[in-house]
Amino acid sequence: MTLFTPFKFGQIDLKNRIVMASMTRGRTTNPGQVPNELQVEYYRQRASAGLILTEGTWVSRDAMGFINVPGIFTPAQVDGWRKVTDAVHQQGGAIFAQLAHSGAVSHPAFFNGQPPLAPSAINPGLRAFTPEGFKDTVTPRAMTLDDIRRTIADYRAAGIHARDAGFDGVELHCATTYLLPQFLNSELNRREDGYGGNAEKRCRIVIEILEALISAWGPGRVGLKISPTLSQGGFRSTEATVETYDHLINGLNRLSLAYLHVVRAAGDLSDSPIATLQDTVGYYRERYEGTLIANLGFDKASGAAEIERGAADLISFGKPFIGNPDFVRRMERDLPLTSPMVETFYQGGAQGYVDYAPAD
Ligand SMILES: Cc1cc2nc3c(=O)[nH]c(=O)nc-3n(C[C@H](O)[C@H](O)[C@H](O)COP(=O)(O)O)c2cc1C
Repeated sequence: MTLFTPFKFGQIDLKNRIVMASMTRGRTTNPGQVPNELQVEYYRQRASAGLILTEGTWVSRDAMGFINVPGIFTPAQVDGWRKVTDAVHQQGGAIFAQLAHSGAVSHPAFFNGQPPLAPSAINPGLRAFTPEGFKDTVTPRAMTLDDIRRTIADYRAAGIHARDAGFDGVELHCATTYLLPQFLNSELNRREDGYGGNAEKRCRIVIEILEALISAWGPGRVGLKISPTLSQGGFRSTEATVETYDHLINGLNRLSLAYLHVVRAAGDLSDSPIATLQDTVGYYRERYEGTLIANLGFDKASGAAEIERGAADLISFGKPFIGNPDFVRRMERDLPLTSPMVETFYQGGAQGYVDYAPAD
């Protein structure tokens, strides 16, 4: 079966084509946001995936927007992550750190009352999970050019930290509603300088961060995750979405990435400005020249079919890995799957995290 065949990608040999997608789980319950023993155990249990992508991990203090999420900007965090990467490697797995920045999808509760940073001072109309529970987002502060330069440097430093922590590579989180998709969005990015105003300028920060990460890692070790069809709250696709992402893909083809990770459309796009992205994976397969990972709602049969039709090289799975630490084996042997408990997705300590048993 296609999913279970090895795959050479970038500089790395994967034992199968099954990727565990990034999932924020909110278990880093210490003030230093240091990955802990629970996280070591969680990732160790799931190391039969060909590649694990960690939960979105803050690149700096400014990047925060969700409680109990780890960072990768202090020496203690690097030491914590090293225990995770050691455990995964001991099981013969591979693991990339996902580098994240919330941008406007955060709250002053994280910044001593100061507003979060974003491309422009526009409230995305979403919610952030703060120490005081879910709160509506506020109007953020538009980043200055200095803020942008510092943020790119933060990503590079986080990339170097990830290397020091023993990761096999990094994935740049440019998906969901976080900082980088905010820059790509023509409603949320109203800048009139070098980082907004047309497709090329909206993409510029993403390309510059990727170049900074590749300068730290070398070729074939940096991936990018995008979800161009996602709409949520005040974060909506626009008339400029398709052109902006087309431009981004052209830029990616000039870089030596490990892969492009595409979240496909969740619903019917026919009445939207992005109807052309309905077959999201197929659309980007035609345009992106490197390795492609497909994501969202796949199972064994549909994942294998996506590879067989030539649209993707690898398939990533999120929720199935929560309830099934041995998801790869269960698919291989057609064993029944355990449904994950939604109430412990983002909180709950060991419960609903490391206590899902493997199949007999
Ligand atoms: C609990 C949970 C947390 C998530 N956190 C992240 C995250 O930190 N970074 C990210 O890129 N996607 C995140 N996602 C999205 C998943 O990576 C994936 O794109 C999504 O779940 C669709 O894949 P699936 O249908 O196989 O679950 C999260 C999803 C879930 C369920």
